[in-house]
Amino acid sequence: MRVRKAVIPAAGFGTRFLPATKAVPKEMLPLVDRPIIQYAVEEAVASGIEQIIIVIASGRSAIEEHFDSHPALERWLEDRGQIELLRAVRRITEVGTIAFVHQKEQLGLGHAVLMAKELVGDEPFAVMLPDDVMLNPGGTPVTGQLIEQYSAHRGSVIALHRVSREDTSRYGIVAPLREEHRLVEIGDLVEKPPPDEAPSDLAVLGRYILSPKIFDKLETTQRGAGGEIQLTDALRALAREQPVFGYRFEGVRHDAGTRLGWLKANVALSLESDEADEFRAYVRSLDLRD
Ligand code: UTP
Repeated sequence: MRVRKAVIPAAGFGTRFLPATKAVPKEMLPLVDRPIIQYAVEEAVASGIEQIIIVIASGRSAIEEHFDSHPALERWLEDRGQIELLRAVRRITEVGTIAFVHQKEQLGLGHAVLMAKELVGDEPFAVMLPDDVMLNPGGTPVTGQLIEQYSAHRGSVIALHRVSREDTSRYGIVAPLREEHRLVEIGDLVEKPPPDEAPSDLAVLGRYILSPKIFDKLETTQRGAGGEIQLTDALRALAREQPVFGYRFEGVRHDAGTRLGWLKANVALSLESDEADEFRAYVRSLDLRD
């Protein structure tokens, strides 16, 4: 079955960015010229996804408004001949169907994904965590790569990336059963293991293609680490019943979910933007000695 739908959870409190995220969702913080979440939406569209389901926190409308049309602004830009900006504003609303579902209580990522159950129905779907900004310029987008693997192997597929041993405690780490080139058959997953307990150096990043069976698992998943319903716990249960693969994707990942990661992502993307020359000159002019 084709992968047509993507779920983008964006209902978290974003505590690592407080107080910036008190009124503005983390996913709406800008990365150069657009909010973080727009990168994920663009990746979904470039990967052939036809319907995007964004999970938002009840009472927060900024993300919904961002993807809605804004006739007064469009008229204003048109009247002033600001055609490039007008195009940029219109492009946001021309990305296909976006549906919004609310998560009333922040019970964790697994719970957020479960909120999309009715809209996803009985078909495989993508989950894209927007604060992992995945770019593969000139190549297949990361979600597209996972969809190709899903089609070839008919099992759920998780994006993997090798990390240094010291960093295993920051990620979900997989225990591989078999590894063949970029594809890994997953036996188990461990959440944030210390380096000496990590079963591998293969970390889970925020892109998944999941079998709809994950919803059954999420429904029976008890609150785990941090009192939250964890997607990782449901994935472990799924891996006991169905093949779950990992795929070491091609491309670059920026971690826009932490303050330092977000700053680094802004620097990296600014160095590739229209204003790269001026920005590079500015960075060179800084006194970077201790
Ligand atoms: P994070 O673990 O980054 O949590 O969630 P967070 O709340 O956004 O940020 P911190 O850790 O407090 O700083 C990963 C993804 O899951 C979503 C987030 O919006 C983010 O895209 N999420 C998390 C939900 O949608 N609902 C939740 O209850 C928790």
